[in-house]
Amino acid sequence: MKSLPELAGRKVLVTGAAGCIGAWVVKLLRGMDAVPVVFDITENRERLDLIMPDAGEVIWEVGDITDYSQLLSSIAHHDVTAIIHLAALQVPFCKADPVKSTAINVMGSTHILECARQAGIKRLAYASSIAAPAMGDNPWLSTLYGAHKACGEQMASVYWQDWQVPSVGIRPAIVYGPGRDQGMSAAPTVGMLAAYCGQPYHVPFGGEVSYVHAEDAAIRFISALSEQRRGAPVFDLNGTPDDLAQVLEIIRGYIPGAVLQQSGGPMPFPALPDDGQLDAYLDIEPCRPLRQGIADTFACFDDAQSRGIDLQALLERTVSKTP
Ligand SMILES: NC(=O)c1ccc[n+]([C@@H]2O[C@H](COP(=O)([O-])OP(=O)(O)OC[C@H]3O[C@@H](n4cnc5c(N)ncnc54)[C@H](O)[C@@H]3O)[C@@H](O)[C@H]2O)c1
Repeated sequence: MKSLPELAGRKVLVTGAAGCIGAWVVKLLRGMDAVPVVFDITENRERLDLIMPDAGEVIWEVGDITDYSQLLSSIAHHDVTAIIHLAALQVPFCKADPVKSTAINVMGSTHILECARQAGIKRLAYASSIAAPAMGDNPWLSTLYGAHKACGEQMASVYWQDWQVPSVGIRPAIVYGPGRDQGMSAAPTVGMLAAYCGQPYHVPFGGEVSYVHAEDAAIRFISALSEQRRGAPVFDLNGTPDDLAQVLEIIRGYIPGAVLQQSGGPMPFPALPDDGQLDAYLDIEPCRPLRQGIADTFACFDDAQSRGIDLQALLERTVSKTP
């Protein structure tokens, strides 16, 4: 991504940065001389290790987003001037534990907005999801996760209206690429890793899905911080829709003989082309084509392997986390 001099030297709190999108955010921020401060419930740097050689040097606060005082004191301690809020539990984990997930997804978002208000932070981007507009009277699946994300968007809007806390909400579709390893929609990426490792893999859904490479998602969260924004706009991030059969064909094009299968119906979420509104707002190039994203994923696996990362072991751990 193009460098953003406005962020050089700035401390950026990244919640959930041990996760897939967060790992890419950390890598890109460091590449432009900004200073990411990870705030995550886990100290596991595995996803960062996969995509960057210097994950051990990243400033890391092990903390729970449901703990408001810890969050606020971390922001003060590190003199944070911008926030990217990604920490959340996703669809299956919300269904498995409604009370805990609501604390993390809803109260966690309240905590971030309130910290921004108290600390006077005017650069804030946060992750919503295509599951938010899927709520309500339409053919898509309503989920507790989608309700949490819809609530987050509405709270952000009130924080602008009542206290002029600006924010940018981004609703990614299905994120893929290195680091994507849990939940049903991680399956296309797990298929890429399995093919790379010479193992068979079965994707438990089919049909059209909108794909966003994790790095393209990270670019957008960071770009949202490039200036002090006004309001609390929310944008879809649909990337590139494609049929799963075509995705598996592209993978086989790179790894001849890869044993990949699929069964099941389409994911219960919209698979729309990107409307370009977020890219226009941020003044950035469109997401990479899917074929390029898959090639980039394999190049990243090559690099990780050359640095001694055990991809077979990673595949085993990943398969245990996906249906
Ligand atoms: N992956 C996708 O396809 C996708 C699509 C749309 C929206 N999103 C949203 O983007 C954001 C990031 O997604 P991801 O794929 O990187 O998720 P991820 O599951 O890989 O990472 C989430 C991170 O949040 C952390 N976390 C969980 N509970 C926490 C707590 N109580 N306190 C602090 N940290 C906690 C986890 O340890 C993890 O590192 C999430 O808000 C997610 O809902 C993801």
